[in-house]
Amino acid sequence: MNKPILPLLAALTMALTPAFPARADGPDELFPGVWRFTFGAPEKITPVKTRHYPPAAEGLAALPGAAACPIDVTATISGRGVLAHAPLAPGEMIYGLGLQLQSFQQRGLKKRLRVNADPVMDTGDSHAPVPFYVTTRGYGILIDTARQATFYLGDKRRKPEAGAAAAGEGSGDSWNGASSYERKGLGAPSEVLIEIPEAAGADVYVFGGPTLRQAVQRYNLFSGGGPLPPRWGLGFWYRGQSDYSQSNVLSLAAEFRERRIPCDVLGLEPHWQTHAYSCSYVWGQRFPAPDAMLGELAALHFRLNLWEHAFVHPSSPIYSALKPFSGDYEVWGGIVPDFLQPEARNIFAGFHEREHVALGVSGYKADECDNSDFTGNWSFPEMSRFPSGADGEQMHSLFGLRYQDALTQTFEKRGQRTFGLVRSSGALAAPYPYALYSDLYDHRQFVRGIAQAGFSGLLWTPEVRDSANPAELIRRLESVVFSPLAIINAWYLRYPPWKQVNRADNNAGSFAVDWQNTEAQCRGILELRMQFIPWLQAAFVRYHREGLPPFRALVMDFPDDAQSREVDDEYLMGDGLLVAPIIVAGSGNGRGRPSRPVAPDAASGEAARSVYLPPGDWQDFWTGEPHKGQQEIEVRVPLERIPLFVKSGTILPLARPTLHTDDPQSWKLTALVYGDGRQAATLYEDDGASPPSLNTVTLSWDAGKKAGTVSRAGGPGGGAYEVVTWRQMGPIGSAP
Ligand code: GAL
Repeated sequence: MNKPILPLLAALTMALTPAFPARADGPDELFPGVWRFTFGAPEKITPVKTRHYPPAAEGLAALPGAAACPIDVTATISGRGVLAHAPLAPGEMIYGLGLQLQSFQQRGLKKRLRVNADPVMDTGDSHAPVPFYVTTRGYGILIDTARQATFYLGDKRRKPEAGAAAAGEGSGDSWNGASSYERKGLGAPSEVLIEIPEAAGADVYVFGGPTLRQAVQRYNLFSGGGPLPPRWGLGFWYRGQSDYSQSNVLSLAAEFRERRIPCDVLGLEPHWQTHAYSCSYVWGQRFPAPDAMLGELAALHFRLNLWEHAFVHPSSPIYSALKPFSGDYEVWGGIVPDFLQPEARNIFAGFHEREHVALGVSGYKADECDNSDFTGNWSFPEMSRFPSGADGEQMHSLFGLRYQDALTQTFEKRGQRTFGLVRSSGALAAPYPYALYSDLYDHRQFVRGIAQAGFSGLLWTPEVRDSANPAELIRRLESVVFSPLAIINAWYLRYPPWKQVNRADNNAGSFAVDWQNTEAQCRGILELRMQFIPWLQAAFVRYHREGLPPFRALVMDFPDDAQSREVDDEYLMGDGLLVAPIIVAGSGNGRGRPSRPVAPDAASGEAARSVYLPPGDWQDFWTGEPHKGQQEIEVRVPLERIPLFVKSGTILPLARPTLHTDDPQSWKLTALVYGDGRQAATLYEDDGASPPSLNTVTLSWDAGKKAGTVSRAGGPGGGAYEVVTWRQMGPIGSAP
């Protein structure tokens, strides 16, 4: 009878135990510029201890070293768990903590990192929370925990020692009127407080810079380096309606080719399976001959991506084998595999390989692997138990990662590369060839996500679905083609949204009168994506080798520029290309930096926005018009143009737009030379193998002779780049 009381008493005593300082072992320097502090007895199930990819030691050694550990972390341990302290200097700004769609700069906020679908408040709930942040002082900190850690990011003050003045003493009563900078004490020294519940110890990793950008690179390299998506992964993706059949898919494929819509990947949504919630992973009646369908799609140069989640239905052939390696609670009547165990990963991966990948399936959309506090409470509870020893809290934070391990294992074994979608990820995620997405749909937040994800080794796609009007569809499409994965996710639309943007009318088959016009505008934007593939692929090679994210917030490259620290509605794609999407009016959430939404001209769709240009000389991509940096300019663009700015001196190689990346014409380039073209462009010919063989191709420009040269190291890879045209852009050039 008194059994339950004893543990309760013990827990109470623990909670009342005073905190004791934990002496740190270390910091030990594990790699040049990477240090580890160990406090107390760290838990056994953590992101670092369950990692799949080893650190990219070569890349880490190649980064210029950081002399000494830039920050001293201290900790105390009590019945509440571990409390770590990291000092903050006046004005030091904080970024990261995973995909935080609701805010950008994190200093002054409180974040409890909890995995969740559709996080609507700025609480730290996220599809992909990551206990890692970087600051403008040029270092990063990773707390190696799978617990729901809480971060107080400055703004908490202890009461003064006896005799010392209190912070409020002598100041006027101006709290309400003060700016948030003053109110949150951003200009005063402070500290980050991090509480890790349950744990009796923790490892804390510090990544040196000296710049913020290098600290991010070090974290990404420690994670294993960025992924290298196959070229087709960088083309356009389209997911058809959930209940499409084999013949629907084949006629959509034919229609795209006929109507000259560029597309590399088609995606199937839930009902390709005999049972989808939970999943059987078995082709259902709608797909009577999947191998024949895959053959036909391959002949048209389409790849196929399958939707699924990881909760396994009793009718699935892997159910019984997986059952001993699963958690003690069900989700949607299915078991939850314990992907921390190799047995579970092998059973899962083996089946996927035999039944899908061997037939030609190119990858997966790993859905529903987050959690459900905001969406109907469907997932497994935090007190679940898994055979690996993980509880539900730990499993939620690792589930997306270890699920990606199981899926990528399928391809790695076959020496194939993949690219896919995932709805949850976490710490050390850089090497995973998966982009995050969400059912949320605020355009402002979706654009912020592109800049935000880059601080924490994540890729994010602001996917396009339906829209209020064709102009919104086009503006959303413009932002998604300048993101890691260019996709229309029409899972609830019978027809492509350019035929009808309204969901009900679309599904009723009632098309807009001028849909061909909208289709033509969308085609133009998709062609723009195809033109940028060589540039984007080169940025991914740098991510892979140097840990440098292909999509970056301005502050990553300009940490000392005060205005760049605030900008979250613009971002860099590669070196020297600034993207400033037109954000759909009315879709800002009123938090943080004003969303600067635009009211497009109803008839023409023309729109204006202000764009902040960071230090340097910039040129309008479209016209070559020069602009000085460190100023905000007003730009006005027609509907089918996204504001893009190129750093003067850049050579921007654009591919011939093709319907898919297998087309040999996609290797033919027009090199746009901005300003004096002093910055040579480096491209890589990728043979598509795993690991890839990459030939380096360098494009340089002689401003005196007005002539360009191409040099190549190594033989041609999968294709050979050829510069067909060199074109000087500016001061007022011609549109590309
Ligand atoms: C959601 C997912 C959507 C779509 C839908 C199909 O969970 O986020 O993108 O796949 O499921 O049921």
